[in-house]
Amino acid sequence: MEIIRIPRIMQDTCRRHILKGRSVGFVPTMGALHEGHLSLMKRAQRENDSVVVSIFVNPAQFAPAEDFAAYPRDIDNDLVKLRDLGIDSLFVPDNSLMYPSGFSTSVEVGGLSDRLCGLYRPGHFRGVATVVAKLLNIVGPTRAYFGQKDFQQTVVIRRMVKDLNMDAEIVVCPTKREEDGLAMSSRNRYLNPQERTAAASLYRAMTLVSEDLRSGTKSPAALKEMLHAALAKEPLITGIDYAGIFHPETLDELQETGRLREVLIAVAARLGKTRLIDNIVVNLG
Ligand code: PAF
Repeated sequence: MEIIRIPRIMQDTCRRHILKGRSVGFVPTMGALHEGHLSLMKRAQRENDSVVVSIFVNPAQFAPAEDFAAYPRDIDNDLVKLRDLGIDSLFVPDNSLMYPSGFSTSVEVGGLSDRLCGLYRPGHFRGVATVVAKLLNIVGPTRAYFGQKDFQQTVVIRRMVKDLNMDAEIVVCPTKREEDGLAMSSRNRYLNPQERTAAASLYRAMTLVSEDLRSGTKSPAALKEMLHAALAKEPLITGIDYAGIFHPETLDELQETGRLREVLIAVAARLGKTRLIDNIVVNLG
């Protein structure tokens, strides 16, 4: 595996592949790799001639009071996992090369960035869109892979790619879960054992609601109430930023499911100091 730190070198490496007619799959990450990341990489390997992974904990997507400094970093273990998997290239830029002095451009995806997590993490999606735009420009992949766990992120990125005529195909892959249903996330490392057990209640509550939705309860208000009631049963949940039924493209909270083919059940909740998000997309056939 070649390890590349300089954007210009990464750009040249990928360009050479593309010029030879080879496809490049790209998996951007912030490291602390888990099975969820690895499943994106395996899919990228199946679908492309060469795979690039990036590890960059992007300061621009953390608000000042958030966990940038504490965010898990585990580069030695990450390297072992990437080598075991046979990843071709790893891009690990320094902050000073991604945001050199004088850096003053940002990408703002209007509307979509201000809903759901955007209401609780002001500026987060500006940071995500900006760094993903930079990474897509640096790597220039044929396809880029993102996990469905960060559903809003995938919607924002798809919009940006479309609006800015970027040519990477965005591939969204299913959420990887632990045996009890907890969505894999680097932030799960923050949970103490009691919180870790309690964290599975997010998925359980969403599953309950999705079953009711499939078997006929179509009122989003009733479903939302059911979701909140299920979450309220878990005493270690210390706060709920949002929990409800949303349009999977506009991210608007639904008043009725109407003729929608798919709806999004999404939750952001806190267990102690850890904020967890999860979602299920329910196909209404
Ligand atoms: O999902 C993530 O890990 C990050 O938001 C991403 C896409 C790597 C951008 O920093």
